[in-house]
Formats: sequence, structure tokens, C-alpha cells
Amino acid sequence: MLSVTNTEEVIFSPELVTKFKEIVSRYPEGKQKSALLPVLHLVQAEFGWVSAPAMDKVAQYLDIRPIEVYEVATFYTMFFLKPQGKYVLEVCRTGPCCLVGAEKIMKHIEQKLGVKEGQVTNDNLFSWRGVECLAACGFGPVLQIGPEYTFYENLTESKVDELIDNLKLTTAAKPVDQIS
Ligand code: FES
Repeated sequence: MLSVTNTEEVIFSPELVTKFKEIVSRYPEGKQKSALLPVLHLVQAEFGWVSAPAMDKVAQYLDIRPIEVYEVATFYTMFFLKPQGKYVLEVCRTGPCCLVGAEKIMKHIEQKLGVKEGQVTNDNLFSWRGVECLAACGFGPVLQIGPEYTFYENLTESKVDELIDNLKLTTAAKPVDQIS
């Protein structure tokens, strides 16, 4: 659901705009709308989600109507329309992974993190959700963590604990805003 409550101003850094320019330059003049998907991915990688003001700014940058950005961002489930944790654990919940314990893994993540699907932990570090097939069906249960989409396969409850604990340790060693 598109959030209309967030009105916080979004400022694109010069580095981000440089990346936008490089992407737009790959397309013929006047076809800058074709850069929309990769530009939205960059925005999400920078801010962790795509807010309505961010989408408006993208529209302005690409010289297209805001609705054209909303249509794309709300269609593709990989775009987050509300704030997420620094690490979003996306667990495959499609049939083959469910047969080897995906639901048990999701329940375990919910208990370990103490938040329900789509919610964010109090320290803003984690959120999680079930997603459709991640194309690693022979290695389930499986989860991925963006924005690099690192895969973790053949999950067990203890592997999940280890993964979450390691991410916490990484963060403790480095301030959250310095972790890319
Ligand atoms: Fe889980 Fe395909 S069913 S990766």
C-alpha cells in the first residue's frame, strides 16, 4: 500500500545523482523513463525504502509523471514502500521450500527477532518477510538479504541464529550508518 503520510523531504546526494546520470546515459535521448527501475533500485539501496517524496523526486529527475513512478514501485514487490530494518531477511515460502521447513524457519525468525512479518525490530536492524521462489529450490529452506541479495541456503534454526547473531556483531563493530 502506498504510504501518503510520509512527507519528509528527500535529498539525493551528488554521488547518487552521478549514478543516475550514468544509467540514463545508457538510453537514447528522450527515453530516460527506461532508467526508472535501476534508478529506483539505487534509491532503495540509499534510503532502505522508496517513500512517496522519493518517488516524486525520481519523477522530477526523469521528467515523467509521479504516477508513472508509483505504478512501477507498487507493482514490483522488491520495492519497499515503508521503512525496513537495516537487514531484511526474505525467506522463500513457495511449495518446495515449505516441504523442507520454510514455515518453521519463518516462525523461528519471528520468535528470535520478536517481530511479526513486515515489522521492524526496536533497534531498526531487522525486518523479515516471506517471498516467492528464490530460484534455489534444491537448497531450501533459503533466504536472501538485500541490497546485495546474499543467499543463505539449507537453513536450520541454529544457522538462522548464527546468521542473525553475526549480523548483530558486525553492526556492533561498526555504526549502522557506516555499514553498506
Ligand atoms: Fe524456495 Fe524455489 S521454492 S527457492
